[in-house]
Amino acid sequence: MDRGLIPEEIINRIRDRADIVEVVSAHLSLGKAGQNFKGLCPFHSEKTPSFIVSPSRQMFHCFGCGEGGNVFTFLMKIEGSSFPTVVRNLGEKYGIRVEEQPASPAARQRAEQVERLVELNKAAAEFFHKTLLKDPAAKPARVYLKERGITAETIERFGIGYAPQAWDGALKALTKGGKQAWSIEDLAAAGLIVAREQGGKKPGDASGYYDRFRGRVILAILDLQKRVIGFGGRVIDDGVPKYLNSPETPLFRKGRTLYGLEVAREGITREDQVVIVEGYFDAIALHQAGVTNVVATLGTALTSEHVDLIRRFTRRVVLLFDPDAAGVRAALRTLDLFLGSGLAVQVGSLPEGEDPDTFVRSRGPEAFTALVRQAPSLLDFTVAGSLAIGRQGSVEDRVRCVEEVLALLQKLSNPVEKSAALHHVADQLGLDEKVLMERYRQLTRNSSVADHVPGEASVGPVESAPLPKDEEVLVRLLLHDKLTAPMLAQLAADDFTDPRARRLIAKVLEGRTERGEPAVNEAIINIQDDPQCGGIVRALSLSELSYDDVGTAFRDSLKALKLRRIGEEIQEVKTAQMVAERAGQAETARTLMLRQNALQQERQRLLSAGPLPLTEVGSVNA
Ligand code: UTP
Ligand code: MN
Repeated sequence: MDRGLIPEEIINRIRDRADIVEVVSAHLSLGKAGQNFKGLCPFHSEKTPSFIVSPSRQMFHCFGCGEGGNVFTFLMKIEGSSFPTVVRNLGEKYGIRVEEQPASPAARQRAEQVERLVELNKAAAEFFHKTLLKDPAAKPARVYLKERGITAETIERFGIGYAPQAWDGALKALTKGGKQAWSIEDLAAAGLIVAREQGGKKPGDASGYYDRFRGRVILAILDLQKRVIGFGGRVIDDGVPKYLNSPETPLFRKGRTLYGLEVAREGITREDQVVIVEGYFDAIALHQAGVTNVVATLGTALTSEHVDLIRRFTRRVVLLFDPDAAGVRAALRTLDLFLGSGLAVQVGSLPEGEDPDTFVRSRGPEAFTALVRQAPSLLDFTVAGSLAIGRQGSVEDRVRCVEEVLALLQKLSNPVEKSAALHHVADQLGLDEKVLMERYRQLTRNSSVADHVPGEASVGPVESAPLPKDEEVLVRLLLHDKLTAPMLAQLAADDFTDPRARRLIAKVLEGRTERGEPAVNEAIINIQDDPQCGGIVRALSLSELSYDDVGTAFRDSLKALKLRRIGEEIQEVKTAQMVAERAGQAETARTLMLRQNALQQERQRLLSAGPLPLTEVGSVNA
């Protein structure tokens, strides 16, 4: 790609400096696992962690889906950024200057704009926050928040602010005053100001614009890197719209943002559970009450990007829906999103007329956590909800309800659960179970392949099919740096049958030092992203090494390997010999026979001699 633009030397310096554990931790929770760290893979759905990060190797590998690489590839995959962007960002983080040579002027402009917008948003958030605290005109907002029970501490923690009523409050403050003057174009790009319908819109002409947020309490929306990426603003009277949000900008995408995640991540990890609410103030009120594993969507439906984001921290999700028809519909829509996601989803229901904010304020955090604890699974909630609606409705409603519920039940993968659920549904609707069963079978037959739920098994192809056992042992010993120079001298790439192993062994042998020692770490670094053998390099160098006696493991495997190789060669020579005899090529046939004899002898020697004549082997232990 653009790799050539950044000097190799700089790339290496940044790679040596960056700590992969620290970098990965910014995106998902890692727990210690021996020398390595372990977490839920952000690149596929999984219920038990198989994503390993190795600080000593500075690499990551998922034993579930085979994804892996170094600190750069991790960031490229998770952020969807290009290699130069990732290098530059890391360089900045670790104070290593990367010459600014982006691929194209347009890309450079975009990157620079994003950087400016981050700074601008930060300045805007500070302006709103200061206004709330200091400006006499913000008194009604302070009163409003107080009446909502929001404490000064919460205002600080969430960086809550106030946008003045004037048409040009933020506009003036950010383009004129302060430490830095921002351009009209940037303010507009950040969504802080809006162009007037008519009137002068000449570049730099502020008169064509007005503040987006006026007379509103401002909620700063932060991403996981604590960057302010957007804002939400609530009226403090009963004006409309009640909430106004930043538009989508190069920095802000509602569909992949969860309000409060930056504050909640610790609580989510600790509880191993996330509660997702709908309103900013629901999240804020719960946090203030001490329920800190709570995030809010931004007035949009949950998306698969949200699901991916959540999965980095936990696989246990609690949603809040009303048990009324609208709530059940919403739950139904969500069901498709979560099925096959590897996440366990429960649905909590609040008493009618309450939202999490009012509920926690009137009943306290214990009542809320009790409600969460007792929340039924998303499927149970939806089935029960559909049935409740069905029972009340017309005949048509009930028929539709049955179909809907049956379609839901098809999504259950466990047959026992499925038949129990069918029984339950029949019972609830006063239907004959046999009739229901028959209808269910019809539905199942008619349902197309497209309906199939993408489960954990459908994760992308794993290119790390296992190596033959003996080759695996040898490669593993090699990658764990357990082989001495004399041991290494006995390895030959050609002895290995698996092309991935051959390539890897060849690389390592190539990079041997003058004294014949393996340059294992270098080889790993150079080859961990190799399309052919990167997968096994990562998998085998990060998996546990379980050989008490390296010498024996090495000898036995090498013996097996050589025997296998010899066996194969004998077969080949035999065939060639036969062909030569038939073709009347006596001389060739004789040479081949001699070769065959030599191979047979070698095989005999290997079989009878016991251990190969190795020096220094016995002294090396895992
Ligand atoms: P709700 O209208 O359910 O209100 O909005 P709420 O959260 O209970 O608000 P309060 O308690 O009256 O302050 C839920 C969420 O939907 C989005 C916001 O993200 C809000 O937090 N929303 C709502 C909008 O984006 N625009 C609106 O006009 C209303
Ligand atoms: Mn509310």
